[in-house]
Amino acid sequence: MYSWEELEQECQRCRKCGLCHTRNNVVFGVGNRNADVMFIGEGPGEQEDLQGVPFVGAAGKLLDEMMSIIDLDRTNSYIANIVKCRPPQNRDPEEAEQDACIDYLRMQFALVQPKIIVCLGRIAAKRIINPNYKITRDHGNWVIRNGIWMTALYHPSALLRDLSKRPDTFSDLLRIREKMAEVKNFGL
Ligand code: URA
Repeated sequence: MYSWEELEQECQRCRKCGLCHTRNNVVFGVGNRNADVMFIGEGPGEQEDLQGVPFVGAAGKLLDEMMSIIDLDRTNSYIANIVKCRPPQNRDPEEAEQDACIDYLRMQFALVQPKIIVCLGRIAAKRIINPNYKITRDHGNWVIRNGIWMTALYHPSALLRDLSKRPDTFSDLLRIREKMAEVKNFGL
């Protein structure tokens, strides 16, 4: 088992897939390393690649607003991505790129030990919850695996493009808040 420092160092010098040739920065993760709630996105975009921090562009600003609705922020939750380096032109990360990178996320998950995982968008939901996940059908539904509650929201980029998805996301967020209260009570 790696320490945070070892894991981050190894991730920073990773050359396991082709994305290492075009990246400016590895985008490791941000937030509280003991959080109850872990958000998982798809991969860095342009701003994230330039700054080395997840969700700092337009979608990130919306994510911060979404989190604030349920009293979450970057001090009480942890945010990471399926792939740590930006896919060129923000294309979907390829299966092989996800495979090469997923162990970093597994180790982040093992260190954080969250009670709740919230996947952001289709790519993360398919990879983490179920390969047959359909985000329009399944968003907001909950599954429990090994004692960890998991759900998915529409990706904030999708919510920027399509305002009609926002009311559903608002309800999904409220259910995350309920689940947070529920897992806290079980912990007593
Ligand atoms: N979109 C993602 O999925 N992750 C980021 O870090 C930024 C945008």
